[in-house]
Order: sequence, then structure tokens, then C-alpha cells
Amino acid sequence: MPQIRRILVTSALPYANGSLHLGHLVGYIQADTWVRFQRMQNHLCSYVCGSDSHGTPIMIQAEKMGITPEQLVEQVRQEHQADFAGFYIAFDNYYTTHSPENKALVESIFQRHKEQGNIVKRKIKQFFDPDKNMFLPDRFIKGECPRCKAADQYGDNCEVCGATYQPTELNNPYSTLSGAKPIEKESDHYFFKLQSYADLLQQWTHHGHLQEQVTNKLDEWFQAGLQEWDISRDAPYFGFAIPGEQNKYFYCWLDAPVGYIASFQNLCARRPDLTVTDYWMADSKTELYHFIGKDIIYFHALFWPAVLHGANYRMPTAIFANGFLTIDGQKMSKSRGTFIKARTYLNHLNPEHLRYYFATKLSSRIEDIDINFDDFAKRINADLVGKYVNIASRCASFLNKHFASQLSADCCEPTLYKQFTEAGNAIAEKFAALEFNQALRHIMALADRANQYIDEKKPWALIKNSEHKTEVQAICSMGINLFRLLTLYLKPILPHTAQQVEELLNIPSLTWADKDHPLVNHTIREFRPLMVRVMPEQIHAMKVAAQQDLTIAPTQPHTKECKMHPLKEQINIEDFAKVDLRIAKILHAEEVEGSDKLLRLEVDLGNEKRQIFAGIRASYQPQQLIGQLTVIVANLAPRKMRFGISEGMVVVAGDPEGKGLWLIQPETGAQPGMQVK
Ligand code: 2FM
Ligand code: ZN
Repeated sequence: MPQIRRILVTSALPYANGSLHLGHLVGYIQADTWVRFQRMQNHLCSYVCGSDSHGTPIMIQAEKMGITPEQLVEQVRQEHQADFAGFYIAFDNYYTTHSPENKALVESIFQRHKEQGNIVKRKIKQFFDPDKNMFLPDRFIKGECPRCKAADQYGDNCEVCGATYQPTELNNPYSTLSGAKPIEKESDHYFFKLQSYADLLQQWTHHGHLQEQVTNKLDEWFQAGLQEWDISRDAPYFGFAIPGEQNKYFYCWLDAPVGYIASFQNLCARRPDLTVTDYWMADSKTELYHFIGKDIIYFHALFWPAVLHGANYRMPTAIFANGFLTIDGQKMSKSRGTFIKARTYLNHLNPEHLRYYFATKLSSRIEDIDINFDDFAKRINADLVGKYVNIASRCASFLNKHFASQLSADCCEPTLYKQFTEAGNAIAEKFAALEFNQALRHIMALADRANQYIDEKKPWALIKNSEHKTEVQAICSMGINLFRLLTLYLKPILPHTAQQVEELLNIPSLTWADKDHPLVNHTIREFRPLMVRVMPEQIHAMKVAAQQDLTIAPTQPHTKECKMHPLKEQINIEDFAKVDLRIAKILHAEEVEGSDKLLRLEVDLGNEKRQIFAGIRASYQPQQLIGQLTVIVANLAPRKMRFGISEGMVVVAGDPEGKGLWLIQPETGAQPGMQVK
């Protein structure tokens, strides 16, 4: 029996003051895929994350929204959790750094370091906003670049000439919070003596815990000399107060990684098989992996191991850094309309398609990965729809129709089957080593081989002759077995499809060890389409919606004062059944001359087209709507209006003040004409 490994994986905790976008998702999809792979190997792999809830930007954002930081954090935490779930990122726990567990942990870690003399207190000078009465982090100070004189540059670097400097070097500095000219002011700060750990870290960073590129980068930093790290901030600040101090808080970057332990500790409370001692204390026999973005290597590969070690915790087994996402070869940009939120993607496209596309590009190296949506559609349609699910649709419906869904009693091509299972060992190695792109190259070569097998055997021709019936059953059973293996190998990347296939094949959840035993003498279920093609209209609609996200004001918080329309009188199920709601595709939309409220829509209802006048002009531009799916009341009696006959009604959500209307849109997969029940 192979040894069961006990593994803990973390992903970087996202800040709780903004929506997730596609750039965030690279690292979470990478980590989740790896976790799912480890679980398929029957290892005990836990995966935790949570909101990074402290810091000045969160405090300022909450103030702008007129809510408390706690309310903002909880609202964003829930939004993030829903977005992650939408992409099948399955954390065991999604917690917050603003938690009692984290407070106790940070305090005790600070205390241990203090006792060992690793923390010093000294005065520093910083910019202070006299109007807001607060010290200003670099990002809230702007001014003229001291080198090229460009106006409106941030406190630490110039976006025009690339110079880096101290905020105090800016010419004509101003606070972005109040516009006031900042003054320099002194205050006491706590510093962590990172340089005491230089030897330990230098050794640790060369012992297989980091990617080679990271080790090389760290060597440059070692050569430049490690600096003391400022771990305190003055009030006002949203964070944990430093015990025994007046108006001083722990810097959020101290309590953020401690939040990994806190999230795990919170999980342990409902999982008796997991303990903080086993996973986090010095001499631990378990494995700990942090998945992070390349921009936060310094915190994770230097400060964090030193903080852990000095406080008698274990150090990470490894840290995996990922690159950034570019769209069409360029940074995501609001002005180019390529800033796509996770939710906007989910409203239009299949989350597994992004998981797959990222996987085709992910390796163990820190490389930026690019998404080009034409290439994305081609890749998904060719690989997943054209090659992979095609095998099931070719074989399963034959078995359903001609053989009462029964697979043959034995595997008719053991050599071919063996080729597939042996390839599974190489694929597993690639997954384990985070070489997802190479794993997929192997898997797609197998998909080609499976299609080639079916093409050669031509079951559709053989079925015409009743003498060949048993042979057709054997071929289709073989095809289904190859499809099952492809599903098993793709499962870390396509967990939802794999689950649908497990239902179709009428089998328990697939693990890697299942590959060695073909499915014989077994009844499968009725075939249903597993995946649909990516259509250009969906991509277009997503890009239009991404543009719209930029113009619509950010979602206001749900406070207690939020008024809803009072509920209407109760109806019974028969009343409801009279309303025929259908999915409709908007084929055409235009403004109506003489009306400032209406848009004229032409919609496709599957087998008929209708004209509908909808009062949504204030919320939508006509071209945004073309290609979108929505819900209409299809059996509303036609109404004669001043501009023509309206043959149905579009269902929209509206806010109580009548300021905004939102189309109701189905998930990917719904088709025009489908009934909404
Ligand atoms: O850079 C960021 O988005 C941070 N919120 C990541 C924190 S990771 C960990 F340290 F908590
Ligand atoms: Zn400059």
C-alpha cells in the first residue's frame, strides 16, 4: 500500500475590498487542480484560504461606502466565496484574517519573537495627512516624479520613467485622500529583525523548497542585504491592536500569512482528524505548500519562513509562485475592456473551459500566461467538444439504443487499454510536478488515439448487419472505457464534467487507482450532452458586459436599510403553472423612436421568432443585448402598443427605486425555447 501523505495547501488570501478578476484565478485554479489530483491519489489533502481583511485600503473603502470595515469584509468574503465556488475551487475552509483565532495566533507569535529579542522598537518619520489625521501609506501619496517631473505619480515609483524612490523625495506631494499637503511626522514602530535569519534563509532557499527562478531572485536580495521589516502601523488602522500599546496595530502583512494557520485551526474545530500541532508545529511530519502570485514572493519566501521558524512553527515544504495573466498579450486593462471580473466570465462562459485553457498553459515555471479569446474558443471546441466528449456521444448512445446500456463482459482490446493506463503514470507525474500543460498534451494524444480507434472500427457501419452486433457492443464498450480513462485523467481540471460522466457511467467517484480496472459487464445510464461549444456571441456578450461593469457604479452594500418591494399576494402552484417562462435569445435590439423607455427586441424562442417591446432602455444599450440569452413570459397575450405589437414580456430584476433593471440570464448551457420552471 502506498503511503498516505498528509498535505496542507494554501492559496494567497485575496484582499476583501474588490471583486476577483480573471488574473486572480490563475493561481487558485492551479492550486485547486493540484489539490484535486492529490486527493485522487488518495492522499489526505486539505486546502484552506480566506479573506485578507486588514489594512488601510479596506478601512478607506468601507468609509467611502458608509459601512464598517467588518461589514465590507463580510460582504466581499461572501462574494469571493461564491465566485470561487463558481469555478469549482473547493476550499475546505474559507475564513478571514479578522478572526479570534488569528488574533490569538498573531499575538503569541509576536510575543515569542519579542522574548527572543527579534523585535525592536524605534522612531521613524513618515508622511502624515493633517486633514485626515493619519499616516499615509505610499499608495495614498502622489506628486511629481523627482526624476522626470511627471505629475500625479505614486509615492514609491514613477509609471512614466520607471524611477523608484521614497515618498519624501516626490516634488509637491499631496494626499490622495484629502488633497492636503502631507507633513513629515515621527512615531514609534516595531521592526522584525529579518537579518538575524539571513544564514538560515540562505540555506533554506537552496534546498528544494522554491522554484529555481525564485531562488535566483532571492540570491539578488541576499546580496543587497536583508532589511528590518516594519510590522506595526499607527491608528487609525483596521487590524489587530498590539497588546500593551496605545493606538498601534500589527501591519496586515504580518497577520495575513498567520491567517493560513488561523483558517486551518478553524477547520480543525470541525475535523477531528486534523490538528494544528500535526500540521504547523516544528518537527511536523506533514507537508505544507503555499501557492502564491509572483508579486508576493518576498513576503512568503523570506519573512514568513523566518516568522514561523523563530516562533517554533514548521517551515513550508514548498512555495509555488505563478505568473500574471495577460489578455491578448497585454496587461488586463479597463480602458481596453479586457478587465474581466470572475463573475462576468461566469455569467457568460463555462468555468471549466477557463480551468482547461489555463491548464494548457500552466507549467511549474513562473511564466505569465496569455488568454486570447479566439484561441480560447478554438481550443475548447477542438479539444473538449471535438475530441473528448465526442467519444462518449459516439459510443454511449449506441449502447443505450442497441444494447440496453450494457457494456460487454470483457475488454476487447487489452493492449490498447494498457497503453492508456500506462500513459496514466506519466500523466500523474506531470500533474504532481505542476506540469499541467504537458499532462494535457499526453491526454489529448490519447483522445486522438481513442477517436482513431472508433474511426477504424466504424461501429455505425457494422450495426447495419445483425451478424456484427456483438462486435459493435465490444467496440462501443471499449470506446466508453477509453473515455472513462480520459475522464479520470482530466478530472483534476474538469471536476464537474467528471461528476456528470460518473453519473452517466453509473460509477462511484473516480480515483487514480481505478484506471487499472476496465468497466465490464456493467450497465450505464442514458446519454445526455456533456458540454456545448463556445460560441463567438458568448465571448462578445462577455466583453460587452465587462465594459458595462466599468460604467455601472460598484455594488452598494446590503445594509439593513436596504428596502425591497413588498411581496405580492400569495398564489398557488396552479396559478404559477399558467405562466409559461421560456429562454429566449435576443437576435436584434434597437431604440424605439418616440419612446425614451422602450427598446424593440427580436427574440428567438427555439422554433419561432417574436417581437417584444421592453422598457429597459435606461439600463441597456441595444448592442449590449444582441446575442444574450434571457427569460421571457411566452404566453402573455400580444399587446398592441403605439409602436407595434409586443408578443411577450422580458423578465427583469429591478431595484426598489426603479433606478436599474437587470435581465435575468440563465447559466451556460440553456438553449432558446427551453422552459423555465
Ligand atoms: O497580495 C495580496 O493579494 C495579499 N492579500 C495576499 C496575502 S497572502 C497571505 F499572506 F495571506
Ligand atoms: Zn518619472
